[in-house]
Amino acid sequence: WKGFPYFYRHTEYGYMSRPGLGDPFILQSCKADFVPHSSDVNITSFPKAGTTWMQEIAYLVDHMDLEYDESPLDVRCPFLEVRLHPLPAGLDILPTLSYPRHLKWHSALDLLPSGILENSKVIHIARNPKDLCVSYYHFARMNKHFGFVGSFNDFFDCFIKGEVPFGPFWENILSFWRQRDHPNLLFITYEELQDNLERSISKVGEFLGRELTVDQIADIASRVTFDAMSTNPLVNHSHWDKLGLRVSTEATFFRKGKVGDWMEHFSEEQNEIMNRWIEVKSADTGLKFQYTL
Ligand code: A3P
Repeated sequence: WKGFPYFYRHTEYGYMSRPGLGDPFILQSCKADFVPHSSDVNITSFPKAGTTWMQEIAYLVDHMDLEYDESPLDVRCPFLEVRLHPLPAGLDILPTLSYPRHLKWHSALDLLPSGILENSKVIHIARNPKDLCVSYYHFARMNKHFGFVGSFNDFFDCFIKGEVPFGPFWENILSFWRQRDHPNLLFITYEELQDNLERSISKVGEFLGRELTVDQIADIASRVTFDAMSTNPLVNHSHWDKLGLRVSTEATFFRKGKVGDWMEHFSEEQNEIMNRWIEVKSADTGLKFQYTL
């Protein structure tokens, strides 16, 4: 395994794809082509932080009084930065979206279209880097476009070096963390959601200016449990199978959905390496993660 040479560090952004894997996986800059709207809800994250979970929560919160749109989450809340044939490309479906638009992004804040924070709302979902690394490893093995065939240790090395798509991890997460007090940004964690789903839903509601009743919160909570989402074909990415995007059958998109799964994967040495890395990278930032509940 030689790493992910073609699609990480999007400092120049542009078009990147990994050759030899059939239809290209293209990451596209939206900076020039996207104009934020004041009612936009942007879900941002480093991959595997719980993006899908937050996309569905925010969508349900924002559409509580409307009929549930029976289209897949990819369509209701598209990922504009990717062109992943044969799925519709984000920017192409932009004109078909109704307002408030819900949009998903994985890049660092400075790589997103300018004005996104000033002119619209941003929900950033973050996850502790140990569980995130494990989840990303399984995802990279499962997804055809990543074509990852290495061991967990190989992936761990790439992750620490920042050489994974949308890496480096710290540049990405800190770009949002630094703006955590901005009135248009909600910084929330995967672990908070796991710890108290109802409270987290209510927080999202307050942020989006939606007053939710206790019953509405309970209703949303029941629709976004791991079991409910993993069996809901509109959100569980099972259509990827039909499109041939899942190469490894050992994992599904909804894998474990736990806090602390890293303990099943990390060697003592890896844990020490990551602890040191976290200490150095998060020094003086005030950012702390939860690694168990
Ligand atoms: P695991 O691989 O640890 O199971 P993303 O959407 O950013 O790609 O994140 C995917 C991760 O979030 C996966 O983690 C997935 O199982 C988890 N996840 C998605 N929906 C969830 C839910 N409703 N409850 C708990 N975890 C969820």
